[in-house]
Amino acid sequence: MRWPAEAIWEAVAPTLPGFTVELLPQIDSTNTELMRRARAGQCEPVLLVAEEQTAGRGRLGRQWSSGTSVGDSLTFSLGLPLQVADWSGLSLAVGVSVASSLHPALQLKWPNDVCLHGRKLAGILIETASVGATRFAVIGVGVNIAPRDALGLATAPAWLQELLPGIDAPQTLLRLAAPLVQAVLQFEAQGFAPFMDAFQARDALAGRGVTLSDGTAGEARGVDGSGALLVHTSAGLKKISSSEVSVRPTN
Ligand code: BTN
Repeated sequence: MRWPAEAIWEAVAPTLPGFTVELLPQIDSTNTELMRRARAGQCEPVLLVAEEQTAGRGRLGRQWSSGTSVGDSLTFSLGLPLQVADWSGLSLAVGVSVASSLHPALQLKWPNDVCLHGRKLAGILIETASVGATRFAVIGVGVNIAPRDALGLATAPAWLQELLPGIDAPQTLLRLAAPLVQAVLQFEAQGFAPFMDAFQARDALAGRGVTLSDGTAGEARGVDGSGALLVHTSAGLKKISSSEVSVRPTN
């Protein structure tokens, strides 16, 4: 595969000094690798792209599988030092950026699944490590590119070629990478507020019945200014801010 490393570097480096783009044919997980490096004190901003992951990870301790052949999906992580007062909205801001860079038809299922008609097209896993006084953020993104079957997946999959026939993983990365860096830097400077309207416009859960992982049922009512999910329940309005809570639509 030919990757647009130089074009991405040229678009990003002026706003992110020290930024590099790194391509690997295979790794266990781009998130795991950047977390390992951060713990070893390596904290320069980097975009790490893997053609193949052998142990891709998802949220809530799940696995992330990339399909059967190399190129069926795009897997990368953006690692950078980040000073953020309230981290809770970051995953939503990243979801907004990924969806906006790819297609108007894409929706977001709180906190950050990127979906097409209720099927999951892309997933986001954000992890952080403390390195001395700084916090290093690892923002992992996996995008289904080519058709794939639902075997072993919690939710039915969608893939980008449904919307953009012929698109491949390198072209997808080119659309995503620079806007993602800008979104993360904007989040660092201004928090979730600038992303709120764009999230609401793509909110797949708004007005729908949902069940939380503790069994509570209610109706999703959008997000607040920090990115917390608002759920109207029989006990009143609940604010869900932990991304460790999973939310299932019931209708
Ligand atoms: C989820 O939906 O649960 C999150 C999936 C995140 C997958 C990406 S692929 C690149 C990066 N490396 C990983 O091991 N996970 C993320």
